[in-house]
Formats: sequence, C-alpha cells, structure tokens
Amino acid sequence: MTLRPFTGLLFSCACLAQQLAQTPPMGWNSWNKFAEKINGQTVKEIADAMVSSGMKDAGYVYVNIDDTWQGKRDAEGVLQPNEKFPDMKGLADYVHSKGLKIGIYSSPGPKTCAGYEGSYQHEAQDAQTWAAWGIDYLKYDWCSAKDVYKDEEMPAVYKKMGDALKATGRPIVFSLCQYGKQKVWEWGAASGGNLWRTTGDIEASWKSMSSIGFDKQTGLDQYAGPGHWNDPDMLEVGNDRMDAVEDKCHMSLWAMLAAPLLAGNDIRSMSDDTKEILLNKELIAIDQDKLGRQGTRVTKDGRTETWMKPLSNGDMAVAMFNRDDRDQLMIVKWSDLGITGKHEVRDVWHHADRGRIKDLFEAEVSSHGAVVIRVAK
Ligand code: GLA
Repeated sequence: MTLRPFTGLLFSCACLAQQLAQTPPMGWNSWNKFAEKINGQTVKEIADAMVSSGMKDAGYVYVNIDDTWQGKRDAEGVLQPNEKFPDMKGLADYVHSKGLKIGIYSSPGPKTCAGYEGSYQHEAQDAQTWAAWGIDYLKYDWCSAKDVYKDEEMPAVYKKMGDALKATGRPIVFSLCQYGKQKVWEWGAASGGNLWRTTGDIEASWKSMSSIGFDKQTGLDQYAGPGHWNDPDMLEVGNDRMDAVEDKCHMSLWAMLAAPLLAGNDIRSMSDDTKEILLNKELIAIDQDKLGRQGTRVTKDGRTETWMKPLSNGDMAVAMFNRDDRDQLMIVKWSDLGITGKHEVRDVWHHADRGRIKDLFEAEVSSHGAVVIRVAK
C-alpha cells in the first residue's frame, strides 16, 4: 500500500479554523466604553495598558476595534479606514509588537449598525484586506443586512464570510453578531463561527446583565465547546453603572458560562476594584478550562441560584448567586452536585482554602453578589 503524502493539505484551512478559540476568546473591545469615540491612538494606548496592567499576562490578548473605523472604498473597491485610523497596517503591527492580537468589525449588510460602510458584495475582498493588514479577529454584525436578506438566509450569509476568511489562509477568529436570531447556536459553527452572540446588546446595568446572563443562556450549554462558544456579549465590568459587588457577580457568571471575556472598559484607567475583578486568575481559569463546558444552574430557590461547571481535572466550579435585594445565607449540598463525602473547597474570590468539607457548603452572599468555590473531586 502506498501512502498518499499530501492528503493533509486538503484539510489545512478547516484545521486552521478549528484550532482557533480552543478556549473562549479573551481580550478587549472598544464599543461598550468608547462607541464612536475610538481612534487609532486610543487603541495603541489601550494595547500599552493591556500589557502594563497585567491584562495580557492574565490571558486578554485580542484588542478589538468595533464599529466606526470604516471610510470609503477606493476605485478598486478596496475598503479604506476613515481619518480616525490613518494606518491600519501600522496599528496592527504595533498591537502585534506588544504580543497582542487585533480585531476588527463589519456587517454583511451595505451599512454597519452605526451607518458606516459594510461588506455587502465585497466579502472576499474585505477578508483579503483585513488579512493583509494582519487582522486576527472579525466581529460580523447583521445590522442593515436585514434590508437585503431574509433572516432565513443568515446561515449562508455568515458562511460566505466564514469561507472568505478561511480562504485568506490567515487564522482569523470569526464572531457572529446577529443577536441570537434563527437559533444561531444550531448553525453558527457550521458557518465557520467561533462564537456567536445569543442576545441583543448588553448595557452597563444590573437589570441588563442579569437578565442576559441568568435568564437567556438556559439550554444553550450543549452548543458550547472548544472552537465554538455562546457569547452573552462583552463585559461591562468597570463601566461604573454597576457597583463592585455586581461587577464581581457579572464576571463570575460569565466565567461559569464559559463566555468570551472581552473587557469593555477603559483599560488605561482602571480602579483597584476593576483590576481585582478582571484579573482574578482563579476565576479566569474556570472560564478558560480546557474541557470547555458551559456551566448550568443546578438549584434555584426564590431569588438565589447555584450553578455548576465541570472542569478538566475532575473538580467542579460552583457559584452561589444572590439576585435578591437583601443578603442571603445560601447552602450548596454535595448531593445537588452529585457527590458525597468530604471534598476540598477553595474560595475563588478570597483566594483561600476552606478545608475538607463534608455534605454541604454555606455562605452569606451579598445582595446582587456571588460566592464562587472550586470543589475538588
Ligand atoms: C450592534 C452590536 C454592538 C455594537 C454596535 C456597533 O448593536 O450588537 O455590540 O457592535 O452594533 O454599532
């Protein structure tokens, strides 16, 4: 029997895409804090701050430019950045020189949500342009595509860009943003997506964050795994409309959900509370656990609920969440987790071992707060 030497080549593009986002993408995105007030200089300063603040070392590597960077197309149809971003290739080189990666944003429609130029009828050309600049991540936002396509066409429309990105030969994470329509979790990966938004836009409020995180991810866990993730939207930690207790709850819930961790605040000026929250390495390890399982709710009692996420070494991450307006004493029974006997418990926010504990763990959980523990197998 002769071996055919080059069959692997056939699969090289698919493999490239599959190797991306083996754990939920981590980084920063400009939209939540800056919206249209973003420019190349600020992106450079953010990249600097990602390094100096320890964000990069904690795993936040993507620096993602959201909407409003686009200018006009030139005579050949090549999309140009606008005056806020005079040199995209130079910016990408700068971000790469810091050991970080860079992301960009577009729409399958003629215009983006903020009214800038979209990729409609220029999909392959735009993918080539971004690859030539050195782009590593694309967020592709439905927006005005609703005027030119039917919702049922979403899988094919997204696959068109997914294929165009693969054809560049550059590994580019593909982030689908169409607000969870058409049960995107069922076809997002087949369209080449590495993550897909499951809901409309998050706002920096307890109401928005908690309703997206607690109520709208139920039943989606089976669709998450290495290379393809549910995306409950970018973080609002440090954007000042939730307090530190609520921000901790937000970060805890996103980690339990194996959600992408895209900071949405100004990294150049973080408070100590914000740093403590975004840089909690024990919590990040739960989000980034290589088993890639999205956590689920195991018990709910009134306004308190307990979630569990299985981890690759056999431990379980367990989060006790209090959505009530008053502090609550909460109890997790080992039987709720399907275990018996004594287990080592580690408190992930206090960075403290709690000893070998039998039968149950109890904790006082602040209003709108979270207690997260790691229960050894
Ligand atoms: C949509 C997206 C947001 C953001 C804006 C930009 O609303 O869901 O995340 O990208 O567009 O215009």
